[in-house]
Amino acid sequence: MEMNIGMPKDVVKPSVTILNNLLADQFVLLAKTWNFHWNVKGPSFGTYHAFLEKLYDQLFEMIDSTAERIRSIDGRPIGSLHGYLDHTRVKEQDDHQDLPAAFDMLKILLADYEKVICEVRKDLADLESKNPLDEGTISYLQNFIEEFEKTCWMIRAHIE
Ligand SMILES: [Fe+2]
Repeated sequence: MEMNIGMPKDVVKPSVTILNNLLADQFVLLAKTWNFHWNVKGPSFGTYHAFLEKLYDQLFEMIDSTAERIRSIDGRPIGSLHGYLDHTRVKEQDDHQDLPAAFDMLKILLADYEKVICEVRKDLADLESKNPLDEGTISYLQNFIEEFEKTCWMIRAHIE
């Protein structure tokens, strides 16, 4: 059934693209964070292992929300790992390379999380100017930025 929410389907296209790029970033961050949770070592193992679990739990929830926001405006969320790799702006952890030390894992994740915030900030400015009608996606992205900024503070606090 056609949606009837005061926004024609072609108007939401840029929003779907922006949300799918975010979904791809979140999926790659999930894999990377989970991988670090499994492989972290050192005297503070318990702290890092538990903290990384908190991070991937948050990403897991966010992924579902982002995909469902896409569905709410009748878009199709990317549903393949191949698709995520095509769209993400985050670099995966290469399995052929040595794993970073615990402290460096957090530094790498912080840089990635901050990069995603910067990308979404640019996307948001673009959306606000081109498609102010899509208030739902604008507020979704604003909330994402706020939530992720808090996460970045927590990662930063572990490595300062
Ligand atoms: Fe676990």
